[in-house]
Amino acid sequence: MALKFASTAHQTVLARRHQNRLDQALVEADYRSRFRNWERVATVRNSPVRELGADGELFFTPELVPALSHPILEKAEPHIREAVLVHRLYEYLKFTIDLEQSAVIPVTGHISRGMSGLDLPEGMLRDAFKISTDEAWHAQFTYELMREVRGRTRITPVLPDAPTFTGVLARIHEDLPQEIRGLDEMLFAIVSETLISSVLDELPQDERLPGGVRDMVADHAVDEAKHHTYFSTLLRHLWPAMTRKERELAGPYIPQLIFAFLEPDYASTALGLRAAGLAGHEVEQIMSDVYARDTIVADVRRGAAPTLQYFVEAGALEHAATREAFQESGLIA
Ligand SMILES: [Fe+2]
Ligand SMILES: [Fe+2]
Repeated sequence: MALKFASTAHQTVLARRHQNRLDQALVEADYRSRFRNWERVATVRNSPVRELGADGELFFTPELVPALSHPILEKAEPHIREAVLVHRLYEYLKFTIDLEQSAVIPVTGHISRGMSGLDLPEGMLRDAFKISTDEAWHAQFTYELMREVRGRTRITPVLPDAPTFTGVLARIHEDLPQEIRGLDEMLFAIVSETLISSVLDELPQDERLPGGVRDMVADHAVDEAKHHTYFSTLLRHLWPAMTRKERELAGPYIPQLIFAFLEPDYASTALGLRAAGLAGHEVEQIMSDVYARDTIVADVRRGAAPTLQYFVEAGALEHAATREAFQESGLIA
């Protein structure tokens, strides 16, 4: 499902925010761009599309795939276990393409054209163009790699048309009070760009993987380190510029946005397990055993730590309803 973006409501909300809560000191403060050497270091300028090559025996780090430690898969034939990893890679690649194209580029495109409604330093508008370019490149090289993996393994990707997070975001968008509808897109971009993905961290180090996969993920990580700083700065502009009412309305939705990004995509995972050769009842058994709620919440809490810290620093948790929503979600004690 396509995300709705830049609704009229979005622009109204942002325009009002611009007038109400302009933090002049912040606007005038020097913006320290991390993109000054972008021409020299951005992967879109410096790295070719990575060739998959013929090396590497595994297509994803097994330790990052909890289903593999389930007794059913521990006893399974090696080719089934290997296929599970290929399908997990496909899931990650498709998720990346959808994230860049549907959740990040629309937001940076808006910012670059001065349509965010925030009074941002001009350098942040310039950098938003660079991020849009980076993200389009990430989606492109991710797509190319997916094609190469398919060609080499002869395993066809079996994935839902859209990953679960896009549907979850669409529901959150519809659920938001009219006054703040549209803020969800920017908040989700901030959440997704300030988290440290274990995949970006760990896949490049795993020498069991094809060099092309490791290089591609490493390229992505290089650019994302800069994006991370940019989006944490964006939050420092956004939150003080919101009215008290807007903060109180939006805050309780932040945990949902964090879960939308970090919670496993159960539908995609189940399809991948089935496609790898497991029977329906085996897939059901694995899904219910491996994805216990407590484990999921603990994983999301760990992954969300940097983002959570930024929201705390911005003052987002000072409002009781927001704090309660974080507690109820299990993100804070
Ligand atoms: Fe990216
Ligand atoms: Fe990014």
